[in-house]
Amino acid sequence: MFEPIVIAPSILSADFMDLGRDVAVLEEGGAGLIHVDVMDGHFVPNLSMGVPVVKALKRRTRVPLDVHLMIDNPARELPWFIDAGADMLTVHAEVLYGDELASCVESIHEAGVRACVALKPRTAVEVLAPVIGMLDMVLVMSVEPGFSGQSYIAGSEQRVAAVAAMARQAGAAPLIQVDGGIGLQTAPLVAAAGADVLVCGNAVCAQDDPAAAMARIAAAADRAREAALHGCPEGGAR
Ligand code: DX5
Ligand code: ZN
Repeated sequence: MFEPIVIAPSILSADFMDLGRDVAVLEEGGAGLIHVDVMDGHFVPNLSMGVPVVKALKRRTRVPLDVHLMIDNPARELPWFIDAGADMLTVHAEVLYGDELASCVESIHEAGVRACVALKPRTAVEVLAPVIGMLDMVLVMSVEPGFSGQSYIAGSEQRVAAVAAMARQAGAAPLIQVDGGIGLQTAPLVAAAGADVLVCGNAVCAQDDPAAAMARIAAAADRAREAALHGCPEGGAR
């Protein structure tokens, strides 16, 4: 069955002096999730926002908050983000060793929150194997995490296809989210490869009309996704 693509605007590219206004525009424009990029200055070379911003957003929007933790010690900080109102929590596989990955996902689920595991561009997709059946979503990074406005790493759509194949083989059906350099040109590539949720920073939040930008990107992605489902050349193989 054809499911329309979900756009998750990243507020890292919003105007922080007018965050409430920007989030209202995104909600009105049909954002499926609000993507919140949390950075600790260690896991990535940048600092962004944290628990107080998630709390404030929760009071201002009904759109589910998709919190991307780019931090060294997610297990320690999960309870704070859960209390703050995160609806989806994404942890990076690169900082969770052995059983830590599964136990982190379990703690998120025990709190009634949806769980996602993210992979940096050079992390082997195979690290997902032990947890793929537990996940609500997998995040495939298509830039090195840390900054918005970077260019999409060519070929990232192949990693999306690899995650989709791995999930299928495991009988699992997590959503697949792609984050980094996604806009009108790149959205169709990842949508055709099996992406369900597209994070858009610059291509949406930094535009004069974010709602129109979201609609254009979603339409282009949906066309590619539908073509791929029907085996048409435009979308390529799924
Ligand atoms: C990068 C962040 C992204 C970023 C996306 O580390 O995880 O969510 O804000 O921004 P664009 O879409 O501009 O690449
Ligand atoms: Zn992100």
